[in-house]
Amino acid sequence: MLTTDSYELLRQLASPIVAVTSAHAGRTNGMILDSAIRASISPEHPRLSVYIHKWHLSHDLVGASGRFGAHLLHQGQFDLVHHLGFRTGRRVPDKLGTVPHRIGETGVPVLADCHAAFECRVLNTMDAGPSTLFLGEVVATHRGVDGAVLTAEHFRANLPEAWREEFLTNYREAQERIRDLADVEDVRRWRGPTAT
Ligand SMILES: Cc1cc2nc3c(=O)[nH]c(=O)nc-3n(C[C@H](O)[C@H](O)[C@H](O)COP(=O)(O)O)c2cc1C
Repeated sequence: MLTTDSYELLRQLASPIVAVTSAHAGRTNGMILDSAIRASISPEHPRLSVYIHKWHLSHDLVGASGRFGAHLLHQGQFDLVHHLGFRTGRRVPDKLGTVPHRIGETGVPVLADCHAAFECRVLNTMDAGPSTLFLGEVVATHRGVDGAVLTAEHFRANLPEAWREEFLTNYREAQERIRDLADVEDVRRWRGPTAT
């Protein structure tokens, strides 16, 4: 992992660990992020946003469908983070195949085991260079297991030793990829799902 002092300080500005699910044209997928944030204080219009790197399969599926599922996890879900967050669905044919879930009312996979699940409709996007920020309106909420939410801090502090090298290699590879993607090219309003 490449780092600087300002980067180390910025890494503390992480969200809880969130599993993002997506589906389009018969393909489902799941990934992990720690860049989600509540984007509204309105009970009538609950919203959240997530940053997803442009090369992820999830980026394609969320963009095409205009929908995503966002799941807060509990502290017993380290294996799920490893399963969804260390390998791309471009190489693993069916990441959700072994993860119990159902298809929710918006068409996104809703994980059976989680602290909370939010089904979201994309309201707007922002090109953020290497990633896209998707602003989602929460259209359905599901309560899961009570107890402490899995935070990024807890995950990093308790990362199993056997996964450390893989975690750092993935991190370095992502940092290499974003080197040439810092420019924000596309400043526009969301025009709806790209799939017709
Ligand atoms: C703890 C953790 C945090 C992550 N945070 C992000 C993030 O904020 N944004 C992102 O695009 N990828 C993030 N990732 C990486 C993706 O989850 C990972 O590359 C995944 O394999 C992408 O899957 P996909 O290509 O199947 O969509 C994170 C991974 C882990 C383990």
